[in-house]
Amino acid sequence: MTDTVSPSHPVSYPPSPEFAAQANATADLYAAAEKDSLAFWAEQADRLHWETPYQEVLDWSDAPVAKWFVGGTLNVAYNCVDRHVADGRGDQVAIHWEGEPGDSRDITYSELLADVSRAANAFTALGLVAGDRVAIYMPMIPEAIVSMLACARLGLTHGVIFAGFSSAAVRQRVDDAGARLVITTDGQWRRGKPAPLKAAVDEAVDGAESVEHVLVVNRTGSDVDWVEGRDLWWHDTVTPASPEHTAEAFDSEHPLFILYTSGTTGKPKGILHTSGGYLTQASYTHYNVFDLKRDTDVYWCTADIGWITGHSYIVYGPLSNGATQVVYEGTPNSPDEHRHWNIVEKYGVTIYYTAPTLVRTFMKWGRQIPDAHDLSTIRLLGSVGEPINPEAWRWYREVIGGNSAPIVDTWWQTETGAIMISPLPGVTATKPGSAQTPLPGIAARVVDETKPVELGESGFLVIEKPWPSMLRGIWGDMDRYRDTYWSHFAEQGWYFAGDGARLDEDGDLWVLGRVDDVMNVSGHRISTSEVESALVGHPAVAEAAVVGASDETTGQGIVAFVILREGVENTGEALIKELKAQVATDISPIARPRDLKIVPELPKTRSGKIMRRLLRDVAEGRDLGDTSSLVDPKVFEAIRGS
Ligand code: WT7
Repeated sequence: MTDTVSPSHPVSYPPSPEFAAQANATADLYAAAEKDSLAFWAEQADRLHWETPYQEVLDWSDAPVAKWFVGGTLNVAYNCVDRHVADGRGDQVAIHWEGEPGDSRDITYSELLADVSRAANAFTALGLVAGDRVAIYMPMIPEAIVSMLACARLGLTHGVIFAGFSSAAVRQRVDDAGARLVITTDGQWRRGKPAPLKAAVDEAVDGAESVEHVLVVNRTGSDVDWVEGRDLWWHDTVTPASPEHTAEAFDSEHPLFILYTSGTTGKPKGILHTSGGYLTQASYTHYNVFDLKRDTDVYWCTADIGWITGHSYIVYGPLSNGATQVVYEGTPNSPDEHRHWNIVEKYGVTIYYTAPTLVRTFMKWGRQIPDAHDLSTIRLLGSVGEPINPEAWRWYREVIGGNSAPIVDTWWQTETGAIMISPLPGVTATKPGSAQTPLPGIAARVVDETKPVELGESGFLVIEKPWPSMLRGIWGDMDRYRDTYWSHFAEQGWYFAGDGARLDEDGDLWVLGRVDDVMNVSGHRISTSEVESALVGHPAVAEAAVVGASDETTGQGIVAFVILREGVENTGEALIKELKAQVATDISPIARPRDLKIVPELPKTRSGKIMRRLLRDVAEGRDLGDTSSLVDPKVFEAIRGS
């Protein structure tokens, strides 16, 4: 890191009296949730508009599949859009959209309603009906958000696929979900240049039985191949549709979306979220953790809608709260490293939510860049995706937060749907690097195999009670759902998050990271076995082992060890490049190994298990620890020499 902040640091940072005095959330919330958690969640659900009131808050009789707000009906899009227009806030800007090449659009809630209605009418005209699945493979443009909301409005279940994923990944997800419609763009802007996107869809859906139509937004004006009858332009299909549409209410448990995430085995899991409980918690957390004041705040979450953070904290959380927010299409260094701070100044951003990897990137670029801007509008900062190291935390607070903005370090997962552990910004004295406290209503604990750990100890992070935005299953594989999340603590009935954590002497919680074979690269979840199977899919590769090695900027970097098949010529760098490219094509460029070593053998235990700990030692340049359980310790000398 090139930057340093003041050498002596306080242990914790209480909110300023001014911040605390105006905060949405006070300490009473903890007491209320403690007293009666179901009544507490009912109160949060009542922040939404229900068409039919629910009869029961929680039905856990079919555990581990929860039903929240049983019998209630609502329309998620109505709650995110129409409701604010009906409240006389139609002229308020919902989205300040900033395109990568410098174009921009302000979209009011009334305009958003008209756009979502047009899309809903067009989708209906295509024959789509509630329960159908729609794949959305788009860059961060307004039409992506409009598409998600139009699906929600019609009860169509959306599956957003990050636009950085390869056509193979798109195919896998489209097939798994059985999507009837795929929405995409001709291309996307990447660092000032258009890159094709529809081409990947063409490849992906070729022969995909479920897909009837591909709807294409013209974003970059690039040439595209066209399949008559299947492909439709957005401007011919959606734009001319009627801007009037009446939303119909759906059951609280109606499937809202599927979002694929990496597990410990090769095949990604389609995490299923439903409507009423999900929206309740996305909305509640956004309001209280980010202290949103809809009349004055300009909120900006830098995530992509391809991830859960974009779903919950760009689309459903902020819009349900009637926020004004910034949505930015591009990368933080396009056209230069000032881009984010120019945007903060242009719109007067007050709340900024990003990932530790980006904070560390900003540190590397140097504080002179943010220092050249007026960031005084920022009053609250958020962090998500991986543990934030204390040095980055202090830099973030001092350089971006003007030494006063509280930082909310928010722990949650695709599976949890919304934030679970985080400081409350007007209440908690924050500690650099700690996510600290389960939110009111959330029963998160650190446990050993059977019971909560003592202060000062580490263990597994579990959730002891159901929460409204919890996943309702893995699409098409309920056995895998039970097995992945509920088998480790089957007796206790606890949800196991896959993370390790430590409780400090004050009872604050420190998330330590995954305890399974899942890597965290720049806040993206990638499984070792997913990368391994991509590598073994290459004809030159006999066996592969992948580990996450610590990386100063990205948290972890992917390091692969590969054994070649008999008779394959090792062409060195050329082959290494080809193998790395294979992973990028098969999964996504974010999964491309940072290092790849061609080795004669892999270290295995006597039972044949690859010893990842030793490979991690090699990858991180450490001396080898105990190698006594290795079949042949000499294997290591050979690996290190490669
Ligand atoms: C995994 C979930 C939640 C949206 C982004 C990632 C890690 C997430 C934190 C945090 C420490 C964190 C965990 C978790 N993680 N937030 N504040 N502190 N670790 O969603 O792809 O589902 O990944 O990200 O390891 O299990 P995801």
